[in-house]
Amino acid sequence: MTINIMDIAKRRGFFWPSFEIYGSVGGFYTYGPLGSLLKLRIEKLIRDHYITKEHCLNIEAPILTPEDPWIASGHVESFTDMNMECTKCGEPHRADHLLEEKLKIDAEGMSLNKILAKIRENKIKCTKCGGELGEPYDYNMMFKTSIGPGKNKITGCLRPETAQTTYMPFRRLFELGRKKLPMGVIQIGRSYRNEISPRQGLIRLREFSQAEAQFFMDPKADTRHPRFGRVKNMKVRVLTKGTQAKNGKETEMTIGGIVAKKHTTEWISYLLATSLELFEKMGIDPKRLRLRQHKDDERSFYSSDTWDVEFMSDTFGKIELVGVAARTDYDLGRHQEFSKQKMEVNIDGNIFIPHVVEVAYGIDRPVYAAMESSAKKDGDRVYFSFPPEASPYQIAVFPLVKKDGLPEKAMKVYDMLNDAGFYVLYDQGFIGKLYYRQDEAGTPFCVTVDYETASDKSVTLRNRDDQMQVRVKTDALPDVLKKIMTGKLQFRKAGKVLKK
Ligand code: ATP
Ligand code: GLY
Repeated sequence: MTINIMDIAKRRGFFWPSFEIYGSVGGFYTYGPLGSLLKLRIEKLIRDHYITKEHCLNIEAPILTPEDPWIASGHVESFTDMNMECTKCGEPHRADHLLEEKLKIDAEGMSLNKILAKIRENKIKCTKCGGELGEPYDYNMMFKTSIGPGKNKITGCLRPETAQTTYMPFRRLFELGRKKLPMGVIQIGRSYRNEISPRQGLIRLREFSQAEAQFFMDPKADTRHPRFGRVKNMKVRVLTKGTQAKNGKETEMTIGGIVAKKHTTEWISYLLATSLELFEKMGIDPKRLRLRQHKDDERSFYSSDTWDVEFMSDTFGKIELVGVAARTDYDLGRHQEFSKQKMEVNIDGNIFIPHVVEVAYGIDRPVYAAMESSAKKDGDRVYFSFPPEASPYQIAVFPLVKKDGLPEKAMKVYDMLNDAGFYVLYDQGFIGKLYYRQDEAGTPFCVTVDYETASDKSVTLRNRDDQMQVRVKTDALPDVLKKIMTGKLQFRKAGKVLKK
């Protein structure tokens, strides 16, 4: 039996549709107490990795920008999806998605004329009222507003990707990075897209979070990735553009094999492999992930080669979690042309505009994928098996009863674990209910302080996944928990086993 994630999400406060008291608007979600923590921890995994392991600079730029950069980048002209409205009720439909849903075909990259022909040929009507559909047209997805009052106000845009707001200060970043290439810059923040018909919860939002790292490089000198050797033997499921044209079947390859067979570069395959590792750390099921290369007619206007990591969702079908793209010198070149500011660099007398390889994560989709992958049912019990590295809380501490000084003692244990750097929660009530609540929150470990704690200087430690309980010395808890969380100690060996 599948678990209804949307139901648990609302009930347990992971996320819910925004503006509910005014009837909600599609594509906007509010993260509640548990969901906002889960999202923070997922974001942190990405940020920490790119700052510490990939040596990226971290920046934060405005979300609201003037329009000029988006004219330069090509988004004003080309950042479009195909819209079709019902001639009777006005309901908008994303034309390629409607075809895919109705005919079970791949409509990515189809022209407006071809889409219209297929819609008419197959007599596809409005999914809301059955009315006739109008002609499809290119619809720009950027939100616009105005900046400032009166006659001198200018057009403002909400960024549809963080990338351009990282490219604009490139010169300054290059100086700060001491004029060396390759140089990585990561930015995490909100992006906005006026999606045509967002009906898939966190998967298609109009306001969402992205974590995008841009790697600036010399295309001639930086063809090898310095850490490629670490991932080259990793086995992955792959759908290249060639296989999509032939039979659409995935093949198993190694990361090194993808490069050896010249499907893509070391940089792109390294970033894909790294993304798979990060997704596994978030609790996303690796068996449900695959790498897919964009077909030539599907790629964004700025890219010469793009790959996605796709997640196979029980509820929503295939979902792109991250895109890795070779953006060449297109973006910096366009900003140089439109702003008249030099984006060229001089490295040992070699003057050129750096090329960019980008890794673009959404955060909301991985949050959903982690929840769907981790949702487990064990009899009547429902729990999320989030890894301790990603779970909203890592440990919950309770007193066995709300009296006889046990809450004060439990609070001391809570303080100790908090000081040791864990994400800890304190709660009190009926112990069975407390465990049940933490299972649904995905908290891996619960600590209960009872009447014996004072005499045997120990507490009961409960494991979420199999409900095993062991008795552990209170003072040893931080060390024991750290070892269990890092895989250095098996739970059953952490103390005397009380219950299995
Ligand atoms: P799709 O084809 O599913 O619309 P996309 O190709 O538009 O996705 P990108 O432009 O590559 O997505 O954006 C990079 C990442 O940002 C995606 O991998 C995804 O995780 C996230 N993302 C994009 N659009 C949305 C959205 N509307 N809601 C939530 N996340 C999104
Ligand atoms: N920065 C890539 C994208 O959002 O499409």
